[in-house]
Formats: sequence, structure tokens, C-alpha cells
Amino acid sequence: MPDTESTSHPVRIAIIGAGPAGFYASDYLLRNGDDKVEVDLYDRLPTPHGLVRAGVAPDHEKIKNVTRKFEKTAEHSAFRFFGNVDIGVDITVDELKNHYHQILFTTGAQVDRRLGIPGEDLPRSYSATEFVAWYNGHPDYSELEFDLSVESAVIVGVGNVAVDVARILCRTTGELRVTDIADYAIDALAQSNIREVHMLGRRGPAQAAFTNPEIKELGEMADADLVISPRDVDLDPATLRFLEDHSDRIVTKKLEILTGASQNELSGKSCRLFIHFLTSPTALKGDDSGVTAVETVRNELYLDDRGSIRPRATDEIGELKAGVVFRSVGYRGVAVPGVPFRDDWGTIPHDGGRILDAPEGSPVTGLYAAGWIKRGPSGVIGTNKADAVESAQAMLEDAAAGVTLSPSVTDGVETEGIIRTRVPDSFSWSDWRIVDEKECARGAEQDRPRVKFTSYDTLVKAKLP
Ligand SMILES: Cc1cc2nc3c(=O)[nH]c(=O)nc-3n(C[C@H](O)[C@H](O)[C@H](O)COP(=O)(O)OP(=O)(O)OC[C@H]3O[C@@H](n4cnc5c(N)ncnc54)[C@H](O)[C@@H]3O)c2cc1C
Ligand SMILES: NC(=O)c1ccc[n+]([C@@H]2O[C@H](COP(=O)([O-])OP(=O)(O)OC[C@H]3O[C@@H](n4cnc5c(N)ncnc54)[C@H](OP(=O)(O)O)[C@@H]3O)[C@@H](O)[C@H]2O)c1
Repeated sequence: MPDTESTSHPVRIAIIGAGPAGFYASDYLLRNGDDKVEVDLYDRLPTPHGLVRAGVAPDHEKIKNVTRKFEKTAEHSAFRFFGNVDIGVDITVDELKNHYHQILFTTGAQVDRRLGIPGEDLPRSYSATEFVAWYNGHPDYSELEFDLSVESAVIVGVGNVAVDVARILCRTTGELRVTDIADYAIDALAQSNIREVHMLGRRGPAQAAFTNPEIKELGEMADADLVISPRDVDLDPATLRFLEDHSDRIVTKKLEILTGASQNELSGKSCRLFIHFLTSPTALKGDDSGVTAVETVRNELYLDDRGSIRPRATDEIGELKAGVVFRSVGYRGVAVPGVPFRDDWGTIPHDGGRILDAPEGSPVTGLYAAGWIKRGPSGVIGTNKADAVESAQAMLEDAAAGVTLSPSVTDGVETEGIIRTRVPDSFSWSDWRIVDEKECARGAEQDRPRVKFTSYDTLVKAKLP
């Protein structure tokens, strides 16, 4: 390792973002750094775990068990957590460079992609990003209000986030009450008048981004019928040709589930969830009081030059009644001041995890990226492991070659003192553990996994013993 062998200083690493990528990278670096690595993991939220806490649906509790692995990583003696510290706002990247040999950005993708159609900003047109963060008790979103007094909702997109939103809108209060969904969201959803939910996929069933277990679950809800038109699951010529050349077991299974659902009889449940394929929104209609309908066009599919099946509008137009719209067409990364950023992709330019000064440019010494901010907003939690390991390996290689930043502060105690002075309400790992225990204890009283604290104020108060 660099400096370390000659001076006995460890390689001091800051990781920015305590989601899966940040934890997987911490784990790899601490286990493979020959006891010469120290990791400080920062998050702008007081709480760790990124989208595992603020994204994963409340009714998917088991998925959140992955945090037990993260807790193990946090037990390492060379690991520290600094929550409630927004890098680029509370501390600049230039300041951090003065304290660390390497900085890894694992800041995720925090905002929504836009549709770019008229009416997108009408009242009651919401992004799935904000709705998800709201029902999960993210402190930046907990004050939002969603008007659920209407009868019909349209969700644009057929990815797994769209499926999460559909499920939460269609679940009964009884189904939600046993989860860790924010209390205010249970109350709001209990008052919801939404009885029809329409999901719009711009391509066909074979190209739908949702995964098979998730779509199967939509057919198994207590009080919602899944409705798909047989016309929509009839495969088009381009897809049939494509599948002949690229047989795919997962797609075959998906088509089997969707075709089965298209033959379902309505069973009289009080909510109906429709999935429409080959349908794009062209405009949201309404007035200053809010959206009332979505104008749509029917698409046909074609194989483009790069071998992808793409949608193309036909002249068949339609309109769906919509008292509320949720746009769920993907997330987007946000730039951290002082770090190169690709605005066109919403990611950090990199080569195998080493940050570049521009796309196809040169590596920036000491700066790395992993997770969604590196490769874009795709993949499940586990996908971030291999991704983080690739970046962490590059970091260890560079450290061994002596290619690092040259911080003037090499004492972790001094760094901690500066952070705690600058952000008096910052969270250590033990602060988080106190909050975690209190949330779980509140949950246990109601037979729920946890009852979250959902504002900065209550989180900061909760860490007091
Ligand atoms: C709604 C939703 C539901 C999902 N459900 C599932 C699921 O059920 N199963 C599954 O396997 N996958 C699921 N995923 C995918 C999974 O959550 C992601 O693959 C994963 O969280 C990405 O990890 P990450 O570490 O790159 O980003 P994130 O998890 O987003 O973590 C990034 C962290 O960086 C922090 N941060 C950002 N900027 C700064 C800054 N300037 N300073 C300090 N900290 C900062 C953020 O606060 C955040 O904690 C879901 C995704 C979404 C959006
Ligand atoms: N349970 C789980 O495991 C779970 C839960 C939630 C999220 N996740 C993961 O998190 C990642 C992000 O999920 P996501 O749902 O946000 O993204 P996603 O999987 O990329 O899906 C985005 C959806 O939006 C559609 N879309 C994009 N632009 C559009 C436009 N202009 N008009 C109409 N539709 C448009 C896409 O259609 P096209 O395919 O045609 O582009 C796709 O249906 C995914 O990898 C997902 O699997 C996993």
C-alpha cells in the first residue's frame, strides 16, 4: 500500500452514500485491505441503508433483511458512520480531499426521469419517486400530500417501481397496517377513493420491465382484481420474430403469467388494476385544479438497427379517465458539486469505477463511483455487489500503486471533530442503533416490523438515549 508502509498511516477512505453500493464496497475494502484501510461512510440522511429503507416497498419486508449483512460490516473496528452529513453542502468534496486518500461516490439516483409531454406538471400528476419516498417515511418527503380522493389512477411505466406503486394503491388497510409503511401514509391510503388503477406499458408484454414474482403477486391481492385485455397479450410480428431467434425462459414465463391473467374473470373485488400494453401517454389533460385524463396513443413495435424492439405510434388514439397520475419511468442521478457528472445519462463518468474528468476522459486521482450513480438506475440490491467490488478492487490496486490523494489531515479523530462541529446533529453508528431499536420497539407494540421516525427533528430527538 502507498504512504501506509512507509509512514504507517492507514489508507483513509470516505464513501459517500450508505445504500447497498456503499455497504458492499465498505465490506470488500475492509476485508481485503490488509488491515490498512479505514472507512468513513457518509449519508445525507440520519439513517443508513439508502433505498432499502426509503425505496423497497413496505409489504416486501423480507427483502430488507439484507440490512443484517450491512450491520455486520458496520461492526468492523475500522468502520465509522457519519449520518445527516450532506456532502457537497455540509462539507465540500475539496474539503474531503484534505482528509482522505480515496473517496468513493455511491450516491444512487435520487430524482425522477421526466416524460416530456404536455400537462406533466398539472396538480395531481406525481412522480413515483416522491410517492415512494413519502410512503416510506423519507424525511425530505414526509410533509407531501397526495390527493387520493379521486376514483381512478394512471401509472405510466411497467417497471417494478410502477408495480410497487400499484400494489400500495390497491392494498387494503389491513394489508398495510402490518408493514413499516409511514403512519401518515396508512391514514391517507385508508381514506383513498381510488378503485381503478391503470398501468401503461409503451411496449408489449414480452418487453415489460417488471419481473415475474412481482407480476404474479399483482394477481394475488386481497381486494384487487388484475385485468389485462387478451388483445394486449397477443404477440406482435416483431416480437414473435425476435423470440424465435432469442428464446428466453423468463420471458416465456412472464407471457404465461400475463396470458393467464388476461383470461381471469372479475371476482368482484373492490379495486381493479388494469395493465395496458402498447400504450403511451401523449398528454395529461386537466386544468389548474388538476389532471382529469390521460391522452394515449396505441403503439406498434419494430426491431431497430441495434437489435432492440422499439415502440412507434400508430394513429389509434385514446383517452383514460385519471384523477391522479403517477409517472414511473425511471430514476436519475444528481450531481455532487465538485465531481464530474454526465448530465445526459445522470451518472458519473467512469472507467471500471475510476471517475473520469469527462466521458472517455482521464481518471481523476483518488475519486471512484459505484452503484446506481455509476451504472444508472437499474438492477436489484444484489446487483450492486459485483458493481461495488469492481470499484473497490480498482481502489485497492491504486492504493497499492501509490496513486492516491495526499490529505494533510491523516488522523481520523481530527476529521471526526471537524464533522461533529460542522454538523452537530450528525449521526454515528451508535446513534443510528438507538433510533433503530426505538423504531423496532414502537413496531413491536403494534405487531409491525418497525414504526419509523419520519422527520429530521424526530430522528435527531430519537437518538438521545
Ligand atoms: C422504489 C424502489 C424499490 C426497490 N425495491 C427493490 C426490491 O424490492 N428488491 C431489490 O432487490 N431492489 C429493489 N430496488 C433497487 C435497489 O433499491 C437499488 O438497486 C439499490 O438501492 C441501489 O443502491 P445504491 O447504493 O446505488 O443507491 P441508494 O440505495 O439510493 O443509496 C444512495 C445513498 O446515497 C445517499 N446520498 C445521496 N447523495 C448524497 C450526498 N451528497 N451526501 C451524502 N449522502 C448522499 C442517499 O441518501 C442514499 O442513502 C428498488 C428501487 C427503488 C427505486
Ligand atoms: N421488487 C423488486 O425487485 C424491485 C422493486 C422496485 C425496483 N426494482 C429495480 O429497480 C430498478 C428501477 O426500477 P424502475 O421501475 O424505476 O425502472 P425500470 O425497470 O427501468 O422501468 C421503467 C419503466 O418506464 C418505462 N418508460 C421509460 N420511459 C418511458 C416513456 N418516456 N414513456 C413511457 N414509458 C417509459 C419503461 O419502458 P421501456 O422498457 O419501454 O423503456 C419501463 O416500463 C429496476 O432494475 C427494478 O427491477 C426492483
